Amino acid sequence: MKKKVIAKAPVNIALIKYWGKEHEEEVIPYTGSLSLSVSELHTTTMITECPQGFSFILNGKKASKEDASKIKKFLLHFAQEHELEGICIISENTGPTASGVASSASGFAALSKAANVFFETYYDDQTLANITRLGSGSACRSLYGGLVVWEKTGEVYTIREDGFDFIMVFALLNHHRKSISSKQAMKNTVKTSPFYPTWVSKTTQDLVAMKHAIHVEDLKAIGELTQSSALAMHASMLAAVPPTLYLNSHSLEIVHAMIQLQEEGEFAYPTMDAGMHVKVLTNQQSLHKVLETLEHFKVKDIVVTHPEKGAQILHEE
Ligand code: DP6
Repeated sequence: MKKKVIAKAPVNIALIKYWGKEHEEEVIPYTGSLSLSVSELHTTTMITECPQGFSFILNGKKASKEDASKIKKFLLHFAQEHELEGICIISENTGPTASGVASSASGFAALSKAANVFFETYYDDQTLANITRLGSGSACRSLYGGLVVWEKTGEVYTIREDGFDFIMVFALLNHHRKSISSKQAMKNTVKTSPFYPTWVSKTTQDLVAMKHAIHVEDLKAIGELTQSSALAMHASMLAAVPPTLYLNSHSLEIVHAMIQLQEEGEFAYPTMDAGMHVKVLTNQQSLHKVLETLEHFKVKDIVVTHPEKGAQILHEE
């Protein structure tokens, strides 16, 4: 066992969404997915020796018992229970803002990257990805950089390292209501949405089309598939019983405005996850127009992000 290990992992945003598990326990998705790992928003996690017990500190605060035991359970993939005594996990979600951005993906990626060295398991990349997805499915994509594929088979890999120098703009909206977790919402969609089988066949085809578009560098197709995957995912959960409605009127206004920008020839494609925030896939040329347009909306925070490399070890001793 090492004395101290620090790892860092990027947030990732899916262009082709993962929504639904075929096997809950093993986190086998119904379809593959594809994401962009982004800089400026990431998790840094330190594993170190502590005087006693096991503690998990998240963003400077001692985590709840429930969260700490979830983390402890996850770490049993790397260590025996008794080895977790006297271990401290200190995790920070960093970037211009820590609020409103799904950080469980970067969180579990940073944790498993660090644990693999700290507990000296040194699993190979694929084994580490298989373990990481048990923390949170989308987390396995944060181990890798640029444009990343997570296949239904479990294989995870970078398909395009530089991510075409895309820019992902996060338009973070004010939110007051605690929304349902993605885990719960996707389970309900799988079970009750009449659109779910269509979602699975569409996503399977979209992933093939997206890989092709990346290969031939068809940026417009990449943008259109991104927007379509997000809207179809939300459509599938809107049709569930009870429905899951993450988007609010502000999110939809921004989607309309981005579609308007596309009609004016700009590269500006919205995507939304398990929350009302809108992320816009854009590029250097259209960035100015996107930011100018977002100024007209009640946006709490705007974060401009760029393609980033995968999870890294920053320090070990
Ligand atoms: C909407 O990876 O958070 O962000 O596997 O249940 O932990 P669990 O789900 P999670 O789901 C992410 C869903 C999404 C789309 C995506 O990132 O592909």
